[in-house]
Amino acid sequence: MSDDTPRDNPIDTPPGPLSPENAVTTGSSASEEELDTDPDELPDHVAAQVLSAPATTPTGRRVPPLPRLIAVASQKGGVGKTTTSINLAAFLAELGHRVLVVDLDPQGNATTGLGFDRQSLEHDLYEVLMHDAPLMDVVRPTSVEGLFCAPSGTHLKDAELELVPAIGGEMRLRTAMAQAENEFDYVLIDCPPSFSLLTKNGLVAAKEVLIPVQCEYYALEGLVQLLDHVDEVRRYMNPALQVTTIVLVMYDGRTQLAQAVVEDVIQHFGDKVCRNKIPRTVKLAEAPSFGEPISVFAPSSRGAVAYKELAREVSGVA
Ligand SMILES: Nc1ncnc2c1ncn2[C@@H]1O[C@H](COP(=O)(O)OP(=O)(O)OP(=O)(O)O)[C@@H](O)[C@H]1O
Ligand SMILES: [Mg+2]
Repeated sequence: MSDDTPRDNPIDTPPGPLSPENAVTTGSSASEEELDTDPDELPDHVAAQVLSAPATTPTGRRVPPLPRLIAVASQKGGVGKTTTSINLAAFLAELGHRVLVVDLDPQGNATTGLGFDRQSLEHDLYEVLMHDAPLMDVVRPTSVEGLFCAPSGTHLKDAELELVPAIGGEMRLRTAMAQAENEFDYVLIDCPPSFSLLTKNGLVAAKEVLIPVQCEYYALEGLVQLLDHVDEVRRYMNPALQVTTIVLVMYDGRTQLAQAVVEDVIQHFGDKVCRNKIPRTVKLAEAPSFGEPISVFAPSSRGAVAYKELAREVSGVA
């Protein structure tokens, strides 16, 4: 077994004191009622999965009902938001779900990473946010069956400023998604590395927050601010918002530091931390330059196996 093979974590460790009020209030579990989704109402492939899915993950974490609207967020740059959005989405699609990646980042890395040329996009998210274009008008299929992208074009950076004086500037994505969310089982919103109005749009539109945490020194730095920000959005704009999922990324099991970070994160976040850690691998770093998720680029690589297992864990497949 290699060092980065997913291992059992001491996941039962009670949450620690990083920020008790945040850790607790942003993480309350979905209610029994919410989880009581009627599978007959769902497409066959999803119904089968709901029926076979446990109410909790192997770590005891509850699995919210579909559709799941998940903002992948961290104000820290380069922590694996886009890599996790693309590859988790691809494997959720492989499990038979209809999955949308919303590229809310003006850098457009999710868009290019899913194979689109940003310069030649006819329609993109800017039109949705600034000109009330229906979301489904900009959604494009990707090379992966069941995986779709709402791309970020070259004008999205203008939206950051233009949204400031706009009426309901923080609500634009939420309004657009309300017309489209039943088209998908999962919507992953790849947020930019800031607390900008674009990120706020993502948090207001989502029901869940997934935070990738790099297994490196300073891993927990900035998390208190992020949790505070989520808390604020929840209090004033989106009462349904919860931090449900922490994904440990760029894990190198050979270092004691990585193991120490894992233990620290588990101590603070308890069962929100996914058991499957994502290793640091060259193939995961290379895949975006080929415009392919790891499920297509290197399906049997360590990185692919890790994201595949993560998709099963996040979706509650036993
Ligand atoms: N598990 C991994 N192994 C190796 N490289 C990785 C891994 N995850 C991400 N990377 C690389 O690290 C860099 C940052 O990752 P990514 O773009 O996903 O982060 P991000 O949080 O979306 O960044 P930004 O804040 O700029 O949007 C990229 O070059 C990516 O290819
Ligand atoms: Mg990114």
